[in-house]
Amino acid sequence: MKVVLGPASKALGEKTAELAGLETVGVAYKLFPDGEAYVRLESPVQGEHVAIVQTTSAPQDSRLMQLAFLAGAAKWNGASKVTAVVPYLGYARQDKMFLQGEGVSVETVARMLNAAGVDALVTVNVHAESALKTFPFPAKTLSAIPLLAEYFVKKGYKKAFALAPDKGAMYIAEQAQAVLGGGAGHLDKKRDRYTGQTTQTGEGLNVKGETVIIFDDIISTGGTIVGAAKILRELGATKVFTACVHPVLVGDAEKRILAAGVEEVVGTDSVSSDVGKVSLAPLIAEALKAQESG
Ligand code: R5P
Repeated sequence: MKVVLGPASKALGEKTAELAGLETVGVAYKLFPDGEAYVRLESPVQGEHVAIVQTTSAPQDSRLMQLAFLAGAAKWNGASKVTAVVPYLGYARQDKMFLQGEGVSVETVARMLNAAGVDALVTVNVHAESALKTFPFPAKTLSAIPLLAEYFVKKGYKKAFALAPDKGAMYIAEQAQAVLGGGAGHLDKKRDRYTGQTTQTGEGLNVKGETVIIFDDIISTGGTIVGAAKILRELGATKVFTACVHPVLVGDAEKRILAAGVEEVVGTDSVSSDVGKVSLAPLIAEALKAQESG
């Protein structure tokens, strides 16, 4: 197996390949004056299973095109199998038809990638695992939550309370709890599908005097965490931290979260940001080694 260093995740790809003991394939890339993308594999992949590491956070569409072109280039150059390693899978939140007339964008993305040459996909904390079942190839999601929880153990916050911002994310809080060894719980969140507005409540949650860490898959605008922090303060939590796998952090999201009284925002290197304190490389390296031996 060789690791292709997608332009959106070059550093992560290099770290992953080093940990997995795999050879890397560099990528030359540019934009033509008319805005079209160009990619070229810089070393041979004939007969190889290649893992293309390329996240698809913003700018999602151009990164998806690069990934598709890299998969095509790998196949044109004789690769025997292409696994797309996509830490942040763009469009994963449109994983069902919420309103009449919509489509399932993430399933369309998967079919496009398959047509381009992708045979399998590995992602990290995809928004809903059920979406992967609609894909035309084997797809799996890894969880970086234990790595994020370990970050807090190392900081001395063992026994902190792991909180999910909504019931659907309770499994995330439970994975963190397994490492932290404290309590776990969730808020309740409702989203208006037309306006995108959310309302959160913390009924029945006892966090008085606790250090609470809010774990989520994505922090985008930061609205969810700002709202959660406000509820936690009202409920008497002494310290509030937040951790997410995908620090999308649109605009001044981090600043607004800190202004809401959150002590620290911690993310991974799935998306480039200034809070990427935990690397996904060990997690992805293990998954690639398992694929190679299996
Ligand atoms: C939603 O269900 C996700 O798990 C996140 O909570 C959400 O995407 C975060 O978005 P924002 O930061 O814009 O509130």
